Amino acid sequence: MELLNRVKNTGISRARPHLNSQGSLQLRQRVDQFIDRQIENWYATVPGARLLEQKEVNKDYYKRHLIETAWRIRLLRVVESKAIAEIAKVSPEAAQAWARYEMEEMLHDEMFLGDLRSLGTSLSSALQTEPYLSTKLLAGYFSYLMDHEGALGVVAYSYLVEYVNVKLDPSKVASLAQSIGGEHVAGYALHTKTDEVEDHPGEVWAALRYLINSPQDEANLYRYIEEHQRILAMYFSEIYNEFGK
Ligand SMILES: [Fe+2]
Repeated sequence: MELLNRVKNTGISRARPHLNSQGSLQLRQRVDQFIDRQIENWYATVPGARLLEQKEVNKDYYKRHLIETAWRIRLLRVVESKAIAEIAKVSPEAAQAWARYEMEEMLHDEMFLGDLRSLGTSLSSALQTEPYLSTKLLAGYFSYLMDHEGALGVVAYSYLVEYVNVKLDPSKVASLAQSIGGEHVAGYALHTKTDEVEDHPGEVWAALRYLINSPQDEANLYRYIEEHQRILAMYFSEIYNEFGK
């Protein structure tokens, strides 16, 4: 009996990518339009969706939002680091783009914690606060995806949030600076600027396009984006119930 090579998951047996550069561009436009519709729906249906854009922002709400944003970055960087290995098994190109993005995002919790400190909340008291259940579930969903569906859904999350950040955060940051004072929004503003200057949506898309290998993957991408939006809406409802009313 002939002995066959047993090595798998090397990412080197790949054929030409499913999406050429034109196909990638067109899909990205369709995905962006899909997210734009989701944003409209978000503002129409999620309670407290505009709480950070009000003239008088509730400081406790803002502080809790900073804590949770830092938690989300801290929890997701663990599971997203594991995603690099999974992605490298199927596409070294995607893994390289994803690793570059992770390298830039890895310590960004510090930016939000800086704003928190400027408002008089110490790091140790921020650590006393547990993440909301929605944030834990988001990290858990990522683990489920990697075990049972693949890393496409994990990377899809980052495309969604980077696209939304670049589109909406500059005006959010400007209005927060007006209501709460620029010195308390410096980290948030720097984070938004980084997303824009480093072209984070483009970096994540560079990984995503190599993970889309069939029309089924394309269809699944929309499903992931919609599911992530639902988990983020859960977070908004949790923080709204605690501080927003
Ligand atoms: Fe970013």
